[in-house]
Amino acid sequence: MEFFTVDSVSKRFGGLLALDKVSMSVREGEIRGVIGPNGAGKTTFFNVVSGLYKPTAGRILFQGAEISRMRPSRIAALGVVRTFQRAALFPKYSVVENIAIARHLHADTSFFGAIFGGSQRSDREADEKAREIVEFLHLDDVRDELAANLAHGHQRILNVAMALATEPKLLMLDEPVAGMNSAETQLMTELIRKIRDERGITVLLVEHDMRTVMGLCETITVLDFGKKLAEGLPDEIKDNPDVVDAYLGTDEFDADS
Ligand SMILES: Nc1ncnc2c1ncn2[C@@H]1O[C@H](COP(=O)(O)OP(=O)(O)O)[C@@H](O)[C@H]1O
Ligand SMILES: [Mg+2]
Repeated sequence: MEFFTVDSVSKRFGGLLALDKVSMSVREGEIRGVIGPNGAGKTTFFNVVSGLYKPTAGRILFQGAEISRMRPSRIAALGVVRTFQRAALFPKYSVVENIAIARHLHADTSFFGAIFGGSQRSDREADEKAREIVEFLHLDDVRDELAANLAHGHQRILNVAMALATEPKLLMLDEPVAGMNSAETQLMTELIRKIRDERGITVLLVEHDMRTVMGLCETITVLDFGKKLAEGLPDEIKDNPDVVDAYLGTDEFDADS
Protein backbone atom coordinates (compact mmCIF):
# COMPACT_ATOMS: atom_id res chain seq x y z
CA MET A 1 0.00 0.00 0.00
CA GLU A 2 1.31 3.44 -0.83
CA PHE A 3 2.01 5.63 2.16
CA PHE A 4 0.93 9.04 0.86
CA THR A 5 -0.37 9.83 -2.59
CA VAL A 6 -1.59 13.08 -4.08
CA ASP A 7 -3.54 12.40 -7.24
CA SER A 8 -4.14 15.29 -9.63
CA VAL A 9 -5.20 17.74 -6.92
CA SER A 10 -6.44 21.21 -7.88
CA LYS A 11 -7.51 24.11 -5.70
CA ARG A 12 -9.28 27.12 -7.13
CA PHE A 13 -9.75 30.48 -5.40
CA GLY A 14 -12.17 32.37 -7.64
CA GLY A 15 -10.28 32.95 -10.87
CA LEU A 16 -6.97 31.69 -9.50
CA LEU A 17 -5.82 28.09 -9.77
CA ALA A 18 -3.55 27.93 -6.71
CA LEU A 19 -2.98 24.20 -7.32
CA ASP A 20 -3.26 22.77 -10.81
CA LYS A 21 -3.43 18.95 -11.06
CA VAL A 22 -0.60 18.33 -8.63
CA SER A 23 0.42 14.70 -8.16
CA MET A 24 3.10 13.20 -5.96
CA SER A 25 3.85 10.10 -4.01
CA VAL A 26 5.82 10.02 -0.77
CA ARG A 27 7.18 6.82 0.73
CA GLU A 28 7.16 6.07 4.43
CA GLY A 29 10.23 7.38 6.27
CA GLU A 30 11.16 9.89 3.58
CA ILE A 31 11.99 13.55 4.12
CA ARG A 32 10.36 15.23 1.11
CA GLY A 33 10.96 18.85 0.25
CA VAL A 34 8.33 21.01 -1.41
CA ILE A 35 9.79 24.21 -2.83
CA GLY A 36 8.81 26.93 -5.25
CA PRO A 37 8.89 30.71 -5.58
CA ASN A 38 6.58 32.88 -3.50
CA GLY A 39 2.95 32.27 -4.43
CA ALA A 40 3.71 28.87 -6.02
CA GLY A 41 1.03 27.17 -3.92
CA LYS A 42 3.11 25.53 -1.17
CA THR A 43 1.04 26.68 1.78
CA THR A 44 -2.17 25.99 -0.13
CA PHE A 45 -0.89 22.47 -0.69
CA PHE A 46 -0.42 22.01 3.06
CA ASN A 47 -3.84 23.52 3.73
CA VAL A 48 -5.47 21.09 1.34
CA VAL A 49 -3.62 18.04 2.69
CA SER A 50 -4.45 18.95 6.29
CA GLY A 51 -8.13 19.45 5.42
CA LEU A 52 -8.28 23.18 6.08
CA TYR A 53 -9.36 23.57 2.44
CA LYS A 54 -11.21 21.02 0.35
CA PRO A 55 -9.57 20.36 -3.01
CA THR A 56 -11.54 21.55 -6.04
CA ALA A 57 -10.59 18.31 -7.79
CA GLY A 58 -8.41 15.27 -7.24
CA ARG A 59 -7.76 12.89 -4.39
CA ILE A 60 -5.34 12.55 -1.48
CA LEU A 61 -4.72 9.12 0.00
CA PHE A 62 -2.98 8.35 3.26
CA GLN A 63 -2.25 4.71 4.05
CA GLY A 64 -5.00 3.64 1.73
CA ALA A 65 -7.68 5.99 3.09
CA GLU A 66 -8.97 8.92 1.08
CA ILE A 67 -8.47 11.91 3.34
CA SER A 68 -9.35 14.64 0.84
CA ARG A 69 -12.96 14.94 2.01
CA MET A 70 -12.30 14.48 5.74
CA ARG A 71 -12.45 17.11 8.47
CA PRO A 72 -9.06 18.43 9.71
CA SER A 73 -9.44 16.78 13.14
CA ARG A 74 -10.09 13.44 11.51
CA ILE A 75 -7.04 13.81 9.26
CA ALA A 76 -4.88 14.75 12.26
CA ALA A 77 -6.22 11.76 14.19
CA LEU A 78 -5.00 9.52 11.37
CA GLY A 79 -1.51 10.99 11.86
CA VAL A 80 -1.28 13.70 9.20
CA VAL A 81 -0.23 16.76 11.21
CA ARG A 82 1.07 20.17 10.22
CA THR A 83 2.77 23.12 11.82
CA PHE A 84 1.98 26.64 10.72
CA GLN A 85 4.25 29.19 9.06
CA ARG A 86 3.58 31.47 12.02
CA ALA A 87 3.94 30.16 15.53
CA ALA A 88 0.70 29.15 17.26
CA LEU A 89 1.49 28.88 20.94
CA PHE A 90 -0.23 29.46 24.28
CA PRO A 91 1.96 32.39 25.38
CA LYS A 92 1.05 32.35 29.08
CA TYR A 93 1.86 28.69 29.57
CA SER A 94 5.24 27.04 29.98
CA VAL A 95 6.96 24.97 27.33
CA VAL A 96 6.08 21.67 28.96
CA GLU A 97 2.48 22.85 29.51
CA ASN A 98 2.14 23.87 25.86
CA ILE A 99 3.14 20.38 24.78
CA ALA A 100 0.71 18.75 27.21
CA ILE A 101 -2.10 21.05 26.02
CA ALA A 102 -1.39 20.16 22.40
CA ARG A 103 -1.69 16.49 23.30
CA HIS A 104 -4.96 17.09 25.17
CA LEU A 105 -6.53 19.04 22.34
CA HIS A 106 -5.59 16.29 19.93
CA ALA A 107 -6.77 13.48 22.21
CA ASP A 108 -10.14 15.16 22.74
CA THR A 109 -10.91 15.18 19.05
CA SER A 110 -9.41 11.83 18.18
CA PHE A 111 -10.90 8.39 18.13
CA PHE A 112 -8.78 7.31 21.10
CA GLY A 113 -9.77 10.36 23.09
CA ALA A 114 -13.40 9.50 22.56
CA ILE A 115 -12.90 5.96 23.81
CA PHE A 116 -10.42 6.42 26.64
CA GLY A 117 -11.67 9.85 27.61
CA GLY A 118 -10.98 9.50 31.37
CA SER A 119 -9.41 12.89 32.04
CA GLN A 120 -7.17 11.91 34.99
CA ARG A 121 -5.59 9.13 33.04
CA SER A 122 -5.00 11.41 30.08
CA ASP A 123 -3.59 14.20 32.32
CA ARG A 124 -0.88 11.96 33.67
CA GLU A 125 -0.25 10.46 30.29
CA ALA A 126 -0.03 13.88 28.59
CA ASP A 127 2.42 15.13 31.24
CA GLU A 128 4.64 12.11 30.78
CA LYS A 129 4.57 12.45 27.02
CA ALA A 130 5.37 16.18 27.28
CA ARG A 131 8.40 15.48 29.46
CA GLU A 132 9.61 12.88 27.02
CA ILE A 133 9.31 15.29 24.07
CA VAL A 134 11.10 18.07 25.99
CA GLU A 135 14.05 15.74 26.34
CA PHE A 136 13.89 14.46 22.77
CA LEU A 137 14.00 17.99 21.31
CA HIS A 138 16.59 19.31 23.80
CA LEU A 139 14.17 21.79 25.38
CA ASP A 140 15.25 20.92 28.95
CA ASP A 141 16.77 24.34 29.66
CA VAL A 142 13.57 26.17 28.78
CA ARG A 143 10.98 23.63 29.89
CA ASP A 144 9.48 25.95 32.56
CA GLU A 145 9.77 29.20 30.59
CA LEU A 146 6.56 30.84 29.43
CA ALA A 147 6.17 30.39 25.69
CA ALA A 148 5.88 34.19 25.33
CA ASN A 149 9.41 34.63 26.71
CA LEU A 150 11.14 32.18 24.38
CA ALA A 151 13.59 33.24 21.69
CA HIS A 152 12.29 32.81 18.15
CA GLY A 153 14.26 29.61 17.56
CA HIS A 154 12.86 27.96 20.67
CA GLN A 155 9.32 29.04 19.75
CA ARG A 156 9.67 27.25 16.43
CA ILE A 157 11.02 24.13 18.13
CA LEU A 158 8.09 24.29 20.54
CA ASN A 159 5.76 24.30 17.52
CA VAL A 160 7.36 21.11 16.33
CA ALA A 161 7.16 19.67 19.86
CA MET A 162 3.42 20.40 19.95
CA ALA A 163 2.96 18.64 16.62
CA LEU A 164 4.98 15.67 17.90
CA ALA A 165 2.71 15.45 20.94
CA THR A 166 -0.08 14.34 18.63
CA GLU A 167 2.01 11.38 17.43
CA PRO A 168 2.10 12.16 13.73
CA LYS A 169 2.99 9.65 11.06
CA LEU A 170 3.30 12.32 8.38
CA LEU A 171 4.62 15.59 9.81
CA MET A 172 4.22 18.66 7.61
CA LEU A 173 6.51 21.56 8.46
CA ASP A 174 5.82 24.95 6.89
CA GLU A 175 9.06 26.95 6.73
CA PRO A 176 10.49 25.66 10.01
CA VAL A 177 13.72 27.70 9.78
CA ALA A 178 12.16 30.98 8.57
CA GLY A 179 13.66 33.91 10.45
CA MET A 180 16.27 31.79 12.21
CA ASN A 181 19.95 32.63 12.60
CA SER A 182 22.45 30.06 11.42
CA ALA A 183 22.91 28.34 14.79
CA GLU A 184 19.12 27.98 15.19
CA THR A 185 18.84 26.73 11.61
CA GLN A 186 21.52 24.15 12.26
CA LEU A 187 19.75 22.92 15.39
CA MET A 188 16.34 22.72 13.71
CA THR A 189 17.87 20.79 10.81
CA GLU A 190 19.38 18.26 13.23
CA LEU A 191 16.09 17.89 15.07
CA ILE A 192 14.11 17.26 11.87
CA ARG A 193 16.60 14.57 10.89
CA LYS A 194 16.37 13.05 14.37
CA ILE A 195 12.57 12.96 14.20
CA ARG A 196 12.78 10.89 11.03
CA ASP A 197 15.77 8.75 12.02
CA GLU A 198 14.72 7.87 15.55
CA ARG A 199 10.93 7.97 15.27
CA GLY A 200 10.52 6.87 11.68
CA ILE A 201 8.20 9.83 11.09
CA THR A 202 7.79 10.84 7.45
CA VAL A 203 8.41 14.55 6.91
CA LEU A 204 6.98 16.92 4.30
CA LEU A 205 9.01 20.08 4.39
CA VAL A 206 8.05 23.38 2.80
CA GLU A 207 11.05 25.61 3.11
CA HIS A 208 12.50 28.71 1.55
CA ASP A 209 16.01 28.18 2.79
CA MET A 210 17.53 26.22 -0.07
CA ARG A 211 20.52 24.99 1.88
CA THR A 212 18.27 23.42 4.50
CA VAL A 213 16.11 21.73 1.84
CA MET A 214 19.09 20.45 -0.13
CA GLY A 215 20.74 19.12 3.02
CA LEU A 216 17.71 17.36 4.49
CA CYS A 217 15.57 16.03 1.67
CA GLU A 218 15.98 12.87 -0.36
CA THR A 219 13.57 14.05 -3.03
CA ILE A 220 12.37 17.55 -3.82
CA THR A 221 9.11 18.49 -5.53
CA VAL A 222 9.04 21.93 -7.15
CA LEU A 223 5.82 23.89 -7.54
CA ASP A 224 5.45 26.93 -9.78
CA PHE A 225 2.17 28.76 -10.42
CA GLY A 226 0.34 25.86 -8.79
CA LYS A 227 1.78 23.25 -11.12
CA LYS A 228 4.38 20.61 -10.42
CA LEU A 229 7.40 21.89 -12.32
CA ALA A 230 10.00 19.27 -11.42
CA GLU A 231 10.81 16.47 -9.03
CA GLY A 232 14.10 14.78 -8.26
CA LEU A 233 17.21 14.50 -6.14
CA PRO A 234 18.63 17.73 -4.67
CA ASP A 235 21.46 17.78 -7.22
CA GLU A 236 19.06 17.27 -10.14
CA ILE A 237 16.82 20.05 -8.90
CA LYS A 238 19.71 22.42 -8.37
CA ASP A 239 20.81 22.01 -11.99
CA ASN A 240 17.34 21.83 -13.56
CA PRO A 241 17.03 24.76 -16.02
CA ASP A 242 13.24 25.03 -15.56
CA VAL A 243 13.72 25.39 -11.82
CA VAL A 244 16.49 27.94 -12.19
CA ASP A 245 14.21 29.81 -14.63
CA ALA A 246 11.27 29.80 -12.23
CA TYR A 247 13.40 31.40 -9.56
CA LEU A 248 15.06 33.85 -11.92
CA GLY A 249 14.52 37.44 -10.90
CA THR A 250 13.68 36.38 -7.36
CA ASP A 251 16.49 36.26 -4.83
CA GLU A 252 15.15 33.04 -3.38
CA PHE A 253 17.17 30.33 -5.12
CA ASP A 254 20.50 30.34 -3.43
CA ALA A 255 21.62 26.76 -3.01
CA ASP A 256 25.32 27.55 -2.78
CA SER A 257 25.28 30.40 -0.33
N1 LIG B 1 -7.46 31.67 1.05
C1 LIG B 1 -7.07 32.18 -0.13
N2 LIG B 1 -7.92 32.89 -0.88
C2 LIG B 1 -7.55 33.39 -2.09
N3 LIG B 1 -6.32 33.22 -2.63
C3 LIG B 1 -5.42 32.51 -1.91
C4 LIG B 1 -5.74 31.95 -0.63
N4 LIG B 1 -4.65 31.29 -0.17
C5 LIG B 1 -3.69 31.44 -1.10
N5 LIG B 1 -4.15 32.16 -2.15
C6 LIG B 1 -3.41 32.48 -3.37
O1 LIG B 1 -2.91 31.27 -3.91
C7 LIG B 1 -1.60 31.45 -4.44
C8 LIG B 1 -0.65 30.51 -3.74
O2 LIG B 1 -0.45 30.97 -2.42
P1 LIG B 1 0.37 30.15 -1.34
O3 LIG B 1 -0.12 28.74 -1.32
O4 LIG B 1 0.32 30.89 -0.06
O5 LIG B 1 1.84 30.19 -1.96
P2 LIG B 1 3.27 29.90 -1.27
O6 LIG B 1 3.04 29.30 0.08
O7 LIG B 1 3.94 28.97 -2.24
O8 LIG B 1 3.98 31.21 -1.21
C9 LIG B 1 -1.25 32.91 -4.24
O9 LIG B 1 -1.54 33.59 -5.44
C10 LIG B 1 -2.19 33.34 -3.13
O10 LIG B 1 -2.47 34.71 -3.22
MG1 LIG C 1 3.71 29.85 2.08
